[in-house]
Amino acid sequence: MTQQTEKIYEHALEVLKENDQGSYTIPTKGLYPFQWNWDSCLTALGQFHYDEARAWTEIETLFANQWPDGMVPHIVFHVYSDGYFPGPNVWDTGRPTPTSGITQPPVAGFAIKRLYDRATDKAEAAKRARALLPRIDAWHRWFYDMRDPGHEGLVAILHPWESGRDNSIDWDEAFERVPTDGVEPYVRRDTQHADPAHRPTKAQYDRYLYLVQLFRSLGWDNARLHDASPFKVVDPGFNAILIRSATDLAALADELGEPEIAARNRARAEAGLAALETLWSEPHGQYLCRDRVTGQLIDSASIGGILPVFAAVPKARAEAIARTIEIWAAEVKYIVPSHDPADPRFEPKRYWRAPAWLVMNYMIQDGLRSVGETATADHIVSSSLELITRSGFAEYYDPTTGEPCGGGRFTWTAAMVIEFLEAA
Ligand code: DGY
Repeated sequence: MTQQTEKIYEHALEVLKENDQGSYTIPTKGLYPFQWNWDSCLTALGQFHYDEARAWTEIETLFANQWPDGMVPHIVFHVYSDGYFPGPNVWDTGRPTPTSGITQPPVAGFAIKRLYDRATDKAEAAKRARALLPRIDAWHRWFYDMRDPGHEGLVAILHPWESGRDNSIDWDEAFERVPTDGVEPYVRRDTQHADPAHRPTKAQYDRYLYLVQLFRSLGWDNARLHDASPFKVVDPGFNAILIRSATDLAALADELGEPEIAARNRARAEAGLAALETLWSEPHGQYLCRDRVTGQLIDSASIGGILPVFAAVPKARAEAIARTIEIWAAEVKYIVPSHDPADPRFEPKRYWRAPAWLVMNYMIQDGLRSVGETATADHIVSSSLELITRSGFAEYYDPTTGEPCGGGRFTWTAAMVIEFLEAA
């Protein structure tokens, strides 16, 4: 490491440690004062490099709050804070430790395989992984039971927050159908911590809240939510994460002597990969979302359709996606923008409508590397490190200027930087 990268590494450690609450890590102070699901799983990868045991604890704390039906909620409200909206009273899920009532991209299977593979104390890692295997398997089962009732092999998200890409252009059309009547009055907190121009709009928040209220009125009964929801979208990126986690969980289960868990997850991944092909768009050079209400593909070229390289998609698909990324790269200064820069709806500073995110970069470059697309993978890593050097550990970045956006001193950004530097 050069002196400069050593400084960046030290800074990343500082960010991780200052957001560490002991058994879980908050994404950043102020804006996100609780535990978020996929943030924690990806954060554990960075934590591993300074404290292996602490990394496992991060994921164990999340799974200690798994619902009896198998769902792992997107937020765990470990402490009281009125700095975030919507808080536990709005969700009203009745969990012993309050949680939200929806889920998030299931990256845990991938994360624990990576922790296990790298472990220096294999016996300890095997013990901790073995305890998580059935829990992650149950979460995967939950997805196919509750979010794929028609057995398509692909699961739907019922709320944009589940995708993690809250205000992506991908949801615009389907979101129009979500009504806003009966939404209770509310005061947003996010816009008190971050520039409102970087955040979702009020019209989007009204619809986010409508869906929360609807699901709450159904008692958070997951057996009813899928059919009742006016918003049901099959996101290729979300499914790719689930497929990758199922593949990794299967491999780990085999290694740890759990052949039934392995077989179930291998079957899920195979069915998912076959079904993913129905989302491929040759003209876009990437996968697209499908609106499960209309049955139509959504004409929106976003990072959600690039992310499938994280799963073992056919090599020709990965090559086409690498080309698409390079076409986008010619239009912006830093990659990977979360939306096609040629689309007039591209908004460089607004959350998931264009900005670049280091967690996405991490997963995309990982997938590209595994199929030998190293030039684009290296391009993504160098762009990521340039962003950090220019703008610090932001939540996300304007890909046209590199300007930091959203929250600052962001945990998973720091964790990804540690991962990039450790691999260098
Ligand atoms: C938020 O509050 O912005 C989150 O992304 C929802 O999980």
